[in-house]
Amino acid sequence: MIIKTAKFVKSSPDFRKCPDPRKPEYAFIGRSNVGKSSLINAITNHKKLAKTSGTPGKTQLINHFEINDWWYLVDLPGYGFAKISKVMRANWEKMIMDYLYQRTNLMNTFILIDSRHEPQKLDKDLLDWFGSNQLPFTIVFTKADKLTKKRLGDSLQVYRNYLKQQWETLPPMIVSSAIDKLGVEEILATIDKTNMLFQAK
Ligand code: GTP
Ligand code: MG
Repeated sequence: MIIKTAKFVKSSPDFRKCPDPRKPEYAFIGRSNVGKSSLINAITNHKKLAKTSGTPGKTQLINHFEINDWWYLVDLPGYGFAKISKVMRANWEKMIMDYLYQRTNLMNTFILIDSRHEPQKLDKDLLDWFGSNQLPFTIVFTKADKLTKKRLGDSLQVYRNYLKQQWETLPPMIVSSAIDKLGVEEILATIDKTNMLFQAK
C-alpha cells in the first residue's frame, strides 16, 4: 500500500469524542517511550506528524490521523512511566480500556514492545487483557536498530518462549525500527488486508 496523504484529524480525551466511526481504524499502544509516535511517522513518511519526545508521557490524548482519506491510524498515550499519580493512572486505564473495548471501527491494535527488554509486567498484563477480551492485536517489537542481530534474535526468542506458555497459537509478530523503516511494509500489509475486510462487511 502506498501512503498518499496523512493528516492529523484531532486529539480526543474520550472514545465518544473521537471522529465518526465510519472508517477502519488501527491503534498503536505500548509503554511510554516505546516508539509509538516515531513508528507512525515512519509509516506515514512524515517527520513530525505524531509528536515524539525523549521524555516519557508526551502523548496524552487519543490522536487520530487520517490516511489516504479513508482509514485512521491512532496514536495512544503510553503507560508505565514513573512520574504518575494513582489517579492519573486510573484515568489512563479508563480512557484506553473504554476506547479499546467500545470503538466499533477499531480493526486491529498494534501492541508495541521494546525489543531490548525481557517480558515486563505491564506489557504482559496488557497482552492478557487483550486475550481475555478476545480483541485482535499484532505485537510489534520496536527499536530493532539498537541491537546486534545476535542480541535481537536472543531477545525475540525469550519473548516467543514466554508467549508460548500463554497462548495456544502465537499472536502475529512484527520486528520494527522507525530509524531503518524495518517492519513498515509488514504493518501496512496487515492494515491493507484488514481494510479489505472492512470494505467487504
Ligand atoms: P509516549 O508518547 O511518551 O508514550 O512515547 P512514544 O511511544 O510515542 O515514543 P516516541 O515515538 O516519542 O519515541 C521515544 C524515544 O525513542 C524518542 O527519543 C525516539 O527518537 C526514540 N525512538 C523511537 N523509535 C525508535 C527506533 O526505532 N530506533 C531508535 N534508535 N530510537 C527510537
Ligand atoms: Mg507518543
